[in-house]
Amino acid sequence: MKEIYEAKFVENLFDKMSSSYSKMNYITSFGFSERWRRQCVEEIGIEKGKIVVDLMTGMGECWKHILKKSDNNSKLIGIDFSTEMINRAKKNKLNFSDYEIEILKENVFENSISNESTDFVISGFGLKTFNDQQLGKLANEIHRILKVDGKFSLIDVSVPKKSFLKPFYMFYLKKIIPILGKLFLGSPETYKMLGVYTEEFGNSKNVFQIFNRPEFKVEYVEYFYGCATGIKGIKIK
Ligand SMILES: C[S@@+](CC[C@H](N)C(=O)[O-])C[C@H]1O[C@@H](n2cnc3c(N)ncnc32)[C@H](O)[C@@H]1O
Repeated sequence: MKEIYEAKFVENLFDKMSSSYSKMNYITSFGFSERWRRQCVEEIGIEKGKIVVDLMTGMGECWKHILKKSDNNSKLIGIDFSTEMINRAKKNKLNFSDYEIEILKENVFENSISNESTDFVISGFGLKTFNDQQLGKLANEIHRILKVDGKFSLIDVSVPKKSFLKPFYMFYLKKIIPILGKLFLGSPETYKMLGVYTEEFGNSKNVFQIFNRPEFKVEYVEYFYGCATGIKGIKIK
């Protein structure tokens, strides 16, 4: 396996980026990341009193959108394996003390969530650090934890195809983001990796192919001219 898809590599990368991740994520997406998280959550109409799992939760960036659709009978479970991101998620949890939130410091591929226990699965910007084989395992895990009729919505930043935005987007990804990374983190190399992952990832069409199995009904979703893409779906059996 290419080193960049190994768990230790990804975990270290996010441990290093954790202090600047929120700011960088907002700036590098021109403020769109928040809107995309909200739209990704809205795609599947989360209902009150349900169990929602946020995979690759980071420091809980999607929580505020998920919890808007929750009440005190709901439960939110966030999973991430980066120690630093999880430490920040624990702090973030204090902002939502009216809700039941469980934080699991686990690898998504070895998670402790019970079979068929989950109503909704969300994931914001956690797809690009997986290769095809891992995306297949992700589909298995989502299938395992979801109840029948449970829904999922996953999103990541993408390279817009055939769009007037593409050249500008690639220049920004490869040249400008590493400079911002140096400014905020003293490390252009770390943020260069985001460009490497995004270029390899392309868009979620491949994710769609991998999830397009008989046990799911799945749709491909584009956000803002394909600058972010994702899939949404339902477990039918
Ligand atoms: C780009 S961040 C996304 C954070 C957040 N969901 C958001 O909306 O910004 C990706 C997160 O996925 C986590 N991650 C990547 N692979 C993982 C795995 N196999 N198991 C658990 N967490 C993983 C990383 O540690 C990182 O915190």
